[in-house]
Amino acid sequence: MENRSQWGTRLGFLLAAMGSAIGLGNIWRFPATAYENGGGAFFIPYLFALLTAGIPLLIMEYTIGHKYRGSAPRSLGRVSKGFEWIGWWQVLVSFVISTYYGAIIAWAIMYSYYSFGQAWGDDTTAFFMGDFLQMTDPGAFGGLVPTILIPLVIIWLFVLGILLAGVKKGIELANKIFIPLLAVLFLIIVIRAVTLPGAAQGLNEFFQPNWSEIMNGSVWVAAYGQIFFSLSIGFAIMITYSSYLHKKSDITNNAFITGFGNSSFELLAGIGVFGALGFMAQSTGQEFTEVVQDGVMLAFSVFPQIVNEMPVMSGLFGFLFFISLTLAGLSSLISISETYVAGIQEKFNVSRTASVLVGGGLAAVISIAYASQGGLVLLDTVDYFINNYGIALAGLFEVVAVAWFARGLKDLQNHANSVSDIQLGGWWRFCLGVITPIVLGSMMLQNIRNEVV
Ligand code: PHE
Ligand code: NA
Repeated sequence: MENRSQWGTRLGFLLAAMGSAIGLGNIWRFPATAYENGGGAFFIPYLFALLTAGIPLLIMEYTIGHKYRGSAPRSLGRVSKGFEWIGWWQVLVSFVISTYYGAIIAWAIMYSYYSFGQAWGDDTTAFFMGDFLQMTDPGAFGGLVPTILIPLVIIWLFVLGILLAGVKKGIELANKIFIPLLAVLFLIIVIRAVTLPGAAQGLNEFFQPNWSEIMNGSVWVAAYGQIFFSLSIGFAIMITYSSYLHKKSDITNNAFITGFGNSSFELLAGIGVFGALGFMAQSTGQEFTEVVQDGVMLAFSVFPQIVNEMPVMSGLFGFLFFISLTLAGLSSLISISETYVAGIQEKFNVSRTASVLVGGGLAAVISIAYASQGGLVLLDTVDYFINNYGIALAGLFEVVAVAWFARGLKDLQNHANSVSDIQLGGWWRFCLGVITPIVLGSMMLQNIRNEVV
């Protein structure tokens, strides 16, 4: 077999996998999703989703990469000849995401700088939409916004540099620095947030269980959706990363560590975000429901407002928050970009350097579109389709192909068991062959139905 790159250490792999998993989904998607879907009661469907789909699928992807030692298209093609296209579909979804992830990181970098002088003023939404994104005024620079374009170019040069340096000297090294740093910085933010006045009320809102929601099918769909997105499964990433594992790495254990590591970070983020929101509700005298936001607006409108309200060291708090967003985003961007770098390299039999420059270069050029005045609208539209169709479909194709068409689970189970302490059994095949397809299928149906009504 060819001379394949490898991780230097198991910890290096785990940090890279967690670096991919821990991202914007943990910080700005999970807290509001939990709050809107039953609060404390959401943890039941969430844990269920983690154990019946998230970790089982992660084990499957790790095993596929480890056994077949290739990028997602090549590995899936080795599971069964006809499945290479599923890998390419996943690579395409990752490619598209990578083009707008860079833009969000560029915003976060600018906002970490703005934090110190609170450059966003009192009306943080108007600042974000108007002054920063220039959605209303015609830009001076051919529709492009230089304050976004410049950090964006720097980010891509940085990411391409890491990818060029390779698996061990690039990806692994970056994550070995980023992830521990992120953990420390984020812990500081969370501790500060929960010690702010009013934080208790926010936490109360977050954890208060709304038990009746548990019977609601859409809450379960939300839980599974959060798990799939948050664990980066169905994106070609985990197959690619595990293809660089040593022959003797405990796959099943790695999947449990990644899964619980990501969920712990998610819980931590929920506590930090809701503590801060509770503080904001109290200090501005608003109703709690009015301050809750998610996604882009949570980070770039509400968080700056929270910073404005802080009694002391507010600039530092804002800075740490946006730097955390930057680190979490960068480690995810590196991972999605590696999927097409590996895919192109193997398919066309070219050097790593060539595939980084072609694949990454193309993504970088396309991403410039998001640094234009209409960037946010474009980003929302693309993100909507990726979230509602790209991801669920990619996961559904993969699991149905492997479990049903190739009847490949038994083989994979034997492979995983041969290197792991925890032994997989019939429950694992049941989760993948039955539960996961049903859930992903109903997720698709629900999305299509929402489209029609
Ligand atoms: N798992 C990441 C998160 O939770 C999101 C992501 C998905 C990153 C796909 C890369 C690729 O934020
Ligand atoms: Na995540």
